[in-house]
Amino acid sequence: MKITRKTFDEVMFPCYNPMNMVIKKAHGALVYDNEGNEYVDLTSGIAVNCLGHTPNGVQKVIKKTVKNLIHVSNIFCNEYTLTLAKKLVNLTKFEKVFFVNSGAEANETALKLARRVAFDEYGEQKNEIISFVNSFHGRTFFSVTVGGQDSYSDGFGPKPAAITHIPYNDTETFKKTISDKTCAVILEPIQGEGGIIKADDEFLKEVRALCDKFNAALIFDEVQTGVARSGTFYAYEQTPVKPDILTSAKGLASGLPIGAVLTYDKFAKHFVPGTHGSTFGGNALACSVGSYVVDKVSTKDFLEGVKQKGAYIKASVAKLNEKYHVFSEVRGEGLLLGLVLNDKYHGKSSELQKLCFKHKLLTLTAHGDVLRLAPALNIKKSMLDRAMNLLDKALADFTKA
Ligand SMILES: Cc1ncc(COP(=O)(O)O)c(C=O)c1O
Repeated sequence: MKITRKTFDEVMFPCYNPMNMVIKKAHGALVYDNEGNEYVDLTSGIAVNCLGHTPNGVQKVIKKTVKNLIHVSNIFCNEYTLTLAKKLVNLTKFEKVFFVNSGAEANETALKLARRVAFDEYGEQKNEIISFVNSFHGRTFFSVTVGGQDSYSDGFGPKPAAITHIPYNDTETFKKTISDKTCAVILEPIQGEGGIIKADDEFLKEVRALCDKFNAALIFDEVQTGVARSGTFYAYEQTPVKPDILTSAKGLASGLPIGAVLTYDKFAKHFVPGTHGSTFGGNALACSVGSYVVDKVSTKDFLEGVKQKGAYIKASVAKLNEKYHVFSEVRGEGLLLGLVLNDKYHGKSSELQKLCFKHKLLTLTAHGDVLRLAPALNIKKSMLDRAMNLLDKALADFTKA
């Protein structure tokens, strides 16, 4: 059967518009299409393949695990799921874990949990959720409505109610918005899809204090920032606060579908049998790989390497920028970076991304003005040099155009 990019248009839902190639295989930071082209990948499956593509260690864990177990359902417990839960609890000092399959499902679960806690403890009227403009929390109808981009949730009829979006990092508006009716506040410590924007420490301190005052659960969506991506295991470790509920997914099993909700017993206890569930959530194979990933990426040396490589990219891009003058700043932490186009190139991040693709460099965008990089966390410096060479060529074309 001949498979080409056209096959996508023939048989797939048109809600994506993938680049003009079909991937056949990938190893480390290199991706190959079915016409034999080689690409340097700075996307890692949108911050998923944290140990690179098809890493040997993950292959070994998969082979070993599937000889024993793949899936059993949550009517039973199994060693792999419980091991990963214990590791996450030990690492973060949260007390309870619920496993799911994706970031959206993790946020759906966290939001449902916050609503349930408020319902049980304070009554039905405490049901309001505060979220932030340009945030992204997934594509289920609840999570996408909570996300701060109306265009993603418009056009599907009536939306889930009691959700307010306010500007990110705007303490005064937050103070005016939170009330006794607020059951949850959800935010990304670094907005990813929204343009790689960090929450200010002072803003977070105020949010934490007011959540405590009004008995609202503070939820951190660490789907994109988590699992060492920002240079600490979770990004909240770099802030002055800790959330009540944390959602994780993407890199947690370095390419296998998984998500997790971490919280304290006082919240988790409200999900009594029958209140929530997920057939594949906590799947033995994904959790087995998750345990391997957590061990690998949580060491001091590994995290230091992520920070150093992030700094290396920032310095390399700064040099390129001396030549091309296209970026106003490079922001982000660790290996979640946003190259922000200056006013002259406003709204042109997709154009730059396409030129990178032309030169066999895979990149992401975030909003119209940001070229987003999220490479594998174990990418080698030599590969980053190669990537920067390709970016150099793309920028030459970009500035000529
Ligand atoms: C911060 C954040 N939350 C949630 C999601 C949704 O995750 P998923 O696509 O796994 O449902 C994403 C995906 O990009 C994300 O970046």
